[in-house]
Amino acid sequence: MQMKLWPAVALATAVCVAAHAEVPDFPLDFSLTSTAVNAFGAAAAHQRAGSLVSKMTLDEKLQFIHSEYAMSSVPGGGAGYIQGVSRLNIPDLNMVDSATGSGSTSQASTTFPATIALAASWDRRLSTEFGKQVAIQLRAQGFAMGLGGGTNLAREPRGGRLFEYLGEDPVLAGEMLAERTDGTQRQKVIATIKHYAGNEQEHNRGGGNSQIDERTLREIYLLPFEIAARSAQPGNVMCSYNRLNGDYACENAHLLNDVLKNDWRFEGQVQSDWGAAHSTAKAINAGLDEEEDVGSTVYLTPAAVKQAIANGSVSTARLDDMVRRKLYVMIRTGVMDDPPKASTIDFAGANVFTQAVAEQSMVLLKNDNNQLPLSAASLSRIAVIGGHADAAVLTGGGSGNTRDPVTGSFAGCGGLTFGTSTGCSWWTNPWLKLNVPIVSAIHALAPAAQVSFAGNSDQQTPFRAYTQQEIDQAAALAGRSDVAVVVVAQPAGEDFGDLQSLSLANPSNQDALVEAVANANPRTIVIVESGNPVLMPWKDRVAAIVEAWYPGEGGGKAIADVLFGKVNPSGKLPVTFPMHDQDTPTWGQNGAFEPDPVYAEKLDMGYRWYDAKNIAPMFEFGYGLSYTHFAYSGLSVIHRPDGAIDVLFNVRNDGRVAGAEVPQVYLGVPYSGEPPRRLVGWEKVGLNPGEARRVRITIPQRMQSVWDTSRNNWRYVPGGTVYVGASSRDIRLQGS
Ligand code: NOJ
Repeated sequence: MQMKLWPAVALATAVCVAAHAEVPDFPLDFSLTSTAVNAFGAAAAHQRAGSLVSKMTLDEKLQFIHSEYAMSSVPGGGAGYIQGVSRLNIPDLNMVDSATGSGSTSQASTTFPATIALAASWDRRLSTEFGKQVAIQLRAQGFAMGLGGGTNLAREPRGGRLFEYLGEDPVLAGEMLAERTDGTQRQKVIATIKHYAGNEQEHNRGGGNSQIDERTLREIYLLPFEIAARSAQPGNVMCSYNRLNGDYACENAHLLNDVLKNDWRFEGQVQSDWGAAHSTAKAINAGLDEEEDVGSTVYLTPAAVKQAIANGSVSTARLDDMVRRKLYVMIRTGVMDDPPKASTIDFAGANVFTQAVAEQSMVLLKNDNNQLPLSAASLSRIAVIGGHADAAVLTGGGSGNTRDPVTGSFAGCGGLTFGTSTGCSWWTNPWLKLNVPIVSAIHALAPAAQVSFAGNSDQQTPFRAYTQQEIDQAAALAGRSDVAVVVVAQPAGEDFGDLQSLSLANPSNQDALVEAVANANPRTIVIVESGNPVLMPWKDRVAAIVEAWYPGEGGGKAIADVLFGKVNPSGKLPVTFPMHDQDTPTWGQNGAFEPDPVYAEKLDMGYRWYDAKNIAPMFEFGYGLSYTHFAYSGLSVIHRPDGAIDVLFNVRNDGRVAGAEVPQVYLGVPYSGEPPRRLVGWEKVGLNPGEARRVRITIPQRMQSVWDTSRNNWRYVPGGTVYVGASSRDIRLQGS
């Protein structure tokens, strides 16, 4: 078998020693895989921004802090628009959603895999490239600012927007976000990180009050933002809809001024989520720099701000600061001097990239007796069942979606719609013919076999329950086939609410479908398309399981490549897959969502919860199999004078095929309230059969620290236990 790796992994392999230079006043030191972008030197950019502000009239300044365009009228089908000042050569700034590609409502875009998939790749360079490829398309469509970069954590495993985020660990999420941000800004597109902060559920999304103590905030929920803000310097931070400890996020002085702008020295701008501003003077004085209007919320309009200045509740110095921040970001990223121009998009090239991302992110969850990879030569009849595998793969709905290139509208999704008119979760691309459904992709790899599909081919109501007749037909097909591939799908999207359960509820009887097929054919392989963990009551009765996430437009081919071993899976779970809903930290007595969620589990979120409570998950954080096997040995832990720790160990591919492993370093910090283990570093290492590599991962002092509420600062806690594992529970080496 050939090892097919995106060049990113190959490169990461070559430099598997993580270098972390010391910056005295910045102990949280994560080096990017490249140097953070700065098209224009920071000092010069500040000076130039200041000089421009001094030349602007009051009206010109006010035009810079409020996007008054209803989304339907934003040029180019974007989400927001700030008009430039031509007499000062300041260009217009047009922005668009970009979680999985451009969300323009009128222009075609590639559909990239969901970002939960990107997190599952654990591949930093792939994340940089993801940010770059999305940004190339944004610029070609005329957008200078992307609104991707979601990084709320998977506290609520049923969260409706989990697919837009980067999993449950703050360090994994933060580093992947930093890389993505850097990749975007290198293309002269301003990057956004969002939704800041405490926005971990859709329930009561307009105003829920997330109650999170300071230590939990600093160590868990703010950390991904801090890592990205400090190391990649995104131009834009989007504050969220919810309240945090009483105040709305967009008028929360602690969140915006104290933490973001003062502690982290963030020099960019804070923008409200669409309609998330709730006041004029309070918000401005708390640190909000720009309001995004959805028609009804009008707090930073020229009239309102003029009045606030007149009555003294907002100072002109603060207004200048708001404008200067925006200009600074435009100058620094290169948008000011080189605004985007319409150009042609290389959809075929981007399609190849999306397939590579999907391939690197798939997680092999189970593979009894090496049932995978399949060998085309030994199969004459292949059954493919369910999940509309004959037509398309699933993507998430809402602003984390892309539009159909043919019609440019949400409604034109090849007839496959989900939920409401604003959600098109099934993606087809008949115009470009780049979307190869799973059935066709399998057929291409096993041309001599008969590949048959059974399931629900209903494109108008794709998520209706399978009928008993459809289940019986699927089982009969499986019974007369050499192998049965069952595709199950869990749709989700912004503004569709959170999932009620992690069970495969939509359609409600997908579990029955899997059971019937598994009863008919012991060689049943399950492919899961989801943005959330799913429950698998049939886990022990199927031969193999692959988590494919929402794999983007190259997903069909990527899935087939994994099934037939053209790609050796190397993804690892960025989120715990529990055994039952009741095992999750947020289920409580009956699974009801709290309108004002209290983060009572504190630091014990995600895998920390299962470890602290001794609950066995179905598949733990960091878990993922390969078609080869990796052996770990030779741990040494070296303490450096600066307090950092170098963790060195060997990883050997002792199987017969090439593959990539993600060795993970966890730390048990000896301090009250800390969870048993926290992730502090990892590498993705590509190895040929028999090849070994010595990996070095440096843990900065800050990653060995806790938030000390009595001092309102970080406290370094030396003497922790170092664990090196193939997952958060498959610990192979241990030292102190
Ligand atoms: C609201 C969403 O929460 C946010 O993520 C998105 O960027 C804006 N709408 C603009 O579409």
